[in-house]
Amino acid sequence: MPEPLLTLDGVHTHIDQYHILQGVTLEVPAGGVSVLLGRNGAGKTTTLRTIMGLWHASSGTIRFDGRDITALATPDIARLGIAYVPENMGIFSDLTVRENLVLAATSGPPASDRLDWLFGLFPPLKTFWDSAAGTLSGGQKQMLSIARAIIEPRRLVLVDEPTKGLAPAIIVSVRKALQELKETDTTILLVEQNFQLASRVGDTVSVMDDGRIVHSGAMAELAGDRDMQERLMGLSLEAHQ
Ligand SMILES: Nc1ncnc2c1ncn2[C@@H]1O[C@H](COP(=O)(O)OP(=O)(O)OP(=O)(O)O)[C@@H](O)[C@H]1O
Ligand SMILES: [Mg+2]
Repeated sequence: MPEPLLTLDGVHTHIDQYHILQGVTLEVPAGGVSVLLGRNGAGKTTTLRTIMGLWHASSGTIRFDGRDITALATPDIARLGIAYVPENMGIFSDLTVRENLVLAATSGPPASDRLDWLFGLFPPLKTFWDSAAGTLSGGQKQMLSIARAIIEPRRLVLVDEPTKGLAPAIIVSVRKALQELKETDTTILLVEQNFQLASRVGDTVSVMDDGRIVHSGAMAELAGDRDMQERLMGLSLEAHQ
């Protein structure tokens, strides 16, 4: 077995006096989509933020591509090729679509063939190129947020609930973009409550509860087992349907 691209081993995260992650152990294999599921407040966002160095693990180890990144600062983690699409999307409302994308490119202006690829994935970005990002619809903002994360090739993209609050037609375009991104050799760690989408794009799945991973395995196994879904995620699925 090749070494996973990302490994969390016994990661604990405290936020102020709260003990949020309580020993998270997680493997993200290279080249696919790993889905992280769990009910509200389970610790999914905290896990992504801890990987990104936005919170620091109080104990445990995070390894990326064979390297210990547990104590690195966020910009250094980003430079290793990890991007983050936060739950609140992290776009600049007062800036145009173009300015948002230019600012996200760390090594000079974005290459034109990269932009053409992004326009193919997300046509509204071309249409609203010179519009303020704040005037975009929720789905278009989500597209811009993902586009910012992949304006340059990345090894690993952490995506937090990209379909939250979106209409079904827009969810389809987000799913297609994730699938296309996967084709480009980018590994994705996806937090997603929409199990239909998660089961279509996911290769592996981990389920969190109360700051711990309570199940890890192949997505096909969970997708084909209603009893296991009910046992692991009954509450979280009910809450989102
Ligand atoms: N800044 C913070 N200060 C204190 N507690 C926090 C903070 N951020 C998160 N928490 C707590 O940590 C726990 C996990 O939160 P987290 O945002 O990681 O959950 P989540 O699985 O992403 O949930 P959701 O599905 O609602 O997005 C929750 O109990 C939350 O209240
Ligand atoms: Mg969250």
